[in-house]
Amino acid sequence: MTPASSSDRIIIFDTTLRDGEQSPGASMTVAQKVQIAETLEAMGVDVIEAGFPIASEGDFEAVFRIAERVRDSVVCGLARAAYGDIDRAAEALEPAARKRIHTFISTSPLHMKFKLQMEPEQVHERVVDSVTRARRYTDDVEWSCEDGSRTEHAFLFRCVESAIKAGATTINIPDTVGYAYPEEFADLIRLIRDNVPNIDKAVLSVHCHNDLGLAVANSLRAVQAGARQIECTINGIGERAGNCALEEAVMAIRTRQDLLPYQSRIVTKDIMKASRLVGAVTGFAVQPNKAIVGANAFAHESGIHQDGMLKNAETYEIMRPEDIGLTKSNLVMGKHSGRHAFKTKLKELGYDLGDNALNEAFVRFKRLADKKKDVWDEDLIALVDDEIASESQLVRFVRLRVACGSDVRPNADLTLGVEDEEKRAEAEGDGPVDATFNAIKQLYPHHAKLALFQISAVTEGTDAQAIVTVRLEEDGRTVDGQSADTDTLVASAKAYIAALNKLLTKRARTAPAALSA
Ligand code: KIV
Ligand code: ZN
Repeated sequence: MTPASSSDRIIIFDTTLRDGEQSPGASMTVAQKVQIAETLEAMGVDVIEAGFPIASEGDFEAVFRIAERVRDSVVCGLARAAYGDIDRAAEALEPAARKRIHTFISTSPLHMKFKLQMEPEQVHERVVDSVTRARRYTDDVEWSCEDGSRTEHAFLFRCVESAIKAGATTINIPDTVGYAYPEEFADLIRLIRDNVPNIDKAVLSVHCHNDLGLAVANSLRAVQAGARQIECTINGIGERAGNCALEEAVMAIRTRQDLLPYQSRIVTKDIMKASRLVGAVTGFAVQPNKAIVGANAFAHESGIHQDGMLKNAETYEIMRPEDIGLTKSNLVMGKHSGRHAFKTKLKELGYDLGDNALNEAFVRFKRLADKKKDVWDEDLIALVDDEIASESQLVRFVRLRVACGSDVRPNADLTLGVEDEEKRAEAEGDGPVDATFNAIKQLYPHHAKLALFQISAVTEGTDAQAIVTVRLEEDGRTVDGQSADTDTLVASAKAYIAALNKLLTKRARTAPAALSA
């Protein structure tokens, strides 16, 4: 046993802000990234991968701001095996109390030949050079072999050994394309431990993608084989099918101590809060049957299950909802509830808003309570999520009036705020939603394509708020926007505008293809 693998402590490395943001559709503003980083820090995440500083000015600024704010967690910046990337990452991490540079290069035959167009010897040289360069700036250097699970073993062992010799303190083995199978991946970790002579000088880490739905299983089997860092994301977001879900890995370890006798520092009762925040900011609704954080994860529908639950919750529940910070859904408050009660309720739901955001949310709550007899927890969550998602938008929703019906050509009269100006337009369409979206296009011309339009209800009843998701695509970029309102057309307009704002942020970024190692 190497010293690292004999410890029962698992390091949780969260990459929601880097790999998670690479999800098609997801994008976050700098302020939202800082808010997520603070939430991750409070929940006990050991390492926060805050971004890829060379990617754009926005990525650089996000890493810099997070490095200024976060004190307990290590703040990490990603860099390809190139001096420019590494120097830029170091610059962005400059204010951090604890910093890590994470540098990577592909090592599989397929990636070296077709993507990098480099010989293995050249790649090996870059491994040594990049880690050596990163060590100029910090003692905490992580090295990753991209497509590690499809790399020839002898070459992998050699690169890992050289990276450690050059100063890497964490060695990360990614299953970049989500191809690995749990037993096979655990064997790979064992083989690395048995064949790399200096492996005891580094922490072994794993980074699993979910293309076959095996990311969590692969990560946990790797831990049983000696890995001591899991790279993961909130809600499992990430490239393609996503990454290992933090909440699933952490709760599996906590629940199955008989098989997984390890410990993480995660404060599990903060899980729901982090999940909601990431869902709201990215516009990625969590599927209802998603493990741990899905709306149905602790719901019991069948009579037999309900009967068992009433007699003893352990009959059908292996975890307690309160362990992940889930409170019972309550009928909250009415239009007479005060600001203090509103603030207390939000705290209970896991939201800690600043004064301005709280005031805005309170005004919206009063409006909602005027329209809707019963305001439930879910209504408040949708309302606050909306507030968080719409912060600092360039294009703002102001007002909408729509005429439609069986004998009217649908027509929308829309006012938007663009920077400090208000603009108004009228447009017709095939239906009221089409007319609304046409009005947005008139006011803010763009050529993005509508790729998804989805409506669901926040609660039951005909007065329920509608939650609308809009996906826009433009020049290979995909963004999702989400919004909730008692008026489905207003929610649709706001969701479209949320997506449009994200597109504007993304336009400023380097094309993703230019960023591969
Ligand atoms: O999936 C991957 O290989 C990565 C690396 C940059 C660690 O995200
Ligand atoms: Zn990845």
